[in-house]
Amino acid sequence: MLPVLLLLLLVLASPGSPAASAGVTARTLSPCYSADLSPTPERLVSAVGCTVLLTVPLPNATKVVFWEYKTDSQEGVIVSYAFNRPANTSRSYENRTKFNETDFSLQMVLQQGDDGLYRFRSESEATGWFQLRVVEPLSEPEIVGNSSVKAGGSTKLVCNVLGGKADLYRWKKNGELLLGSDHIQFVDNTTTLCIVKASMNDSGYYACVVRNEVSQNETSFLLHVQNAANVVLPMTLVCVFVGSLAGVFVWCRSRDRPCRNGCR
Ligand SMILES: *[C@@H]1O[C@H](CO)[C@@H](O)[C@H](O)[C@H]1NC(C)=O
Ligand SMILES: *[C@@H]1O[C@H](CO)[C@@H](O)[C@H](O)[C@H]1NC(C)=O
Ligand SMILES: *[C@@H]1O[C@H](CO)[C@@H](O)[C@H](O)[C@H]1NC(C)=O
Ligand SMILES: *[C@@H]1O[C@H](CO)[C@@H](O)[C@H](O)[C@H]1NC(C)=O
Ligand SMILES: *[C@@H]1O[C@H](CO)[C@@H](O)[C@H](O)[C@H]1NC(C)=O
Ligand SMILES: *[C@@H]1O[C@H](CO)[C@@H](O)[C@H](O)[C@H]1NC(C)=O
Ligand SMILES: *[C@@H]1O[C@H](CO)[C@@H](O)[C@H](O)[C@H]1NC(C)=O
Repeated sequence: MLPVLLLLLLVLASPGSPAASAGVTARTLSPCYSADLSPTPERLVSAVGCTVLLTVPLPNATKVVFWEYKTDSQEGVIVSYAFNRPANTSRSYENRTKFNETDFSLQMVLQQGDDGLYRFRSESEATGWFQLRVVEPLSEPEIVGNSSVKAGGSTKLVCNVLGGKADLYRWKKNGELLLGSDHIQFVDNTTTLCIVKASMNDSGYYACVVRNEVSQNETSFLLHVQNAANVVLPMTLVCVFVGSLAGVFVWCRSRDRPCRNGCR
C-alpha cells in the first residue's frame, strides 16, 4: 500500500511530466556536427552519422531491462538484458549500438530512420518516451545559372540542395549578405536569386548558404556581367585576324562597326 501511495504522490508532485521513473538523458558524442546545441530534458536534435549516448538512472531491483524505440514505421526492442545472460540486441541495431551492462547506457550510431521516440524499461517501471530528432547534415549545394550575362539583361541563379533538407537559404555577394531590392530579388523561398537589369557592378562571386538544425554549407559561383564594349573588343580582334588572312586588313582596321558586321 505504501509504495502505491508514494507513487501517487510522485505523479501528483510532478505535473506535466510523464507518469514514469526519472527520465532518459541524451547527448551527442564528439566529434560531430553542431548538433546538440540546446538539448532539452525530453528532446535531442542530432545528425545522421553521429553517435548519441542515452543514459538512465539505475532502476530498482529487476531481473531484466529493455531499451525500446517507436518510429513512424515501426516499434520494438533495441536491446534486452537479463543479468546472467549476454545482452540480446535486435538485428537492425546490432552493428551500431553498444549497451553497457553496468550502467545500462546505450550508445547508438544514428541512421536516417532513427528519428523517433526512445525509452528504458524494467519489469516494474518505464521512463517517459524521449524524442530523438535525427537530421541529415547538408552537403555542398549547387548553383545553377548562366555565368555570363549582358549588361542590362536579367539573370537567375538557382541554389539546389543535393544532400539533406535545408531550413534556410541565404545569398552572399563577395562574402557580404545580400538584401532584397528591385534589383536583387529572391524567389521560391529564397532558393533562387534574380538580378534584374544587371550592370557591370553585379559581377562577382555569389554564394548560396544553406542551413538546417545540425549543419551549414555553401558554394559559390562567379558571375560575369559583360559590357557592350567587352563584346566589341574580342569581335574586333577576331575580325582583324580573319581580315588579314583574307587580305582585307586595311578595310577591316578602319572602323569597328563595318568590321563587326562583316565578321558575323
Ligand atoms: C532476442 O530478442 C528477440 C526479440 O527482441 C527474440 O525474438 C529472441 O528470441 C531473443 N533471443 C534470445 C536468445 O533471448
Ligand atoms: C553486422 O556486421 C557483421 C560483420 O561485420 C555482418 O556479418 C552482419 O551482416 C551485419 N549485420 C547487419 C544487420 O548489418
Ligand atoms: C560502463 O559504464 C561504467 C559506469 O559508468 C563504466 O565504468 C564502464 O567503463 C562502461 N563500460 C563500457 C564498456 O563502456
Ligand atoms: C559541405 O558538404 C561537403 C560535401 O558535399 C562536406 O565535405 C563538407 O564537410 C560540408 N561542409 C560543412 C561545413 O559541413
Ligand atoms: C548565357 O548568357 C549569354 C549572354 O547573355 C547567352 O549568349 C548564352 O546563350 C546563355 N547561355 C545559357 C546556357 O543560357
Ligand atoms: C516555402 O516554405 C514554406 C515554409 O517553409 C513551405 O510551406 C512552402 O511550401 C515553401 N514553398 C516553396 C515554393 O518551396
Ligand atoms: C556599384 O556597387 C557599389 C557597392 O557594391 C556601389 O557603392 C555603387 O554605387 C555601385 N555603382 C553603380 C553604378 O551601381
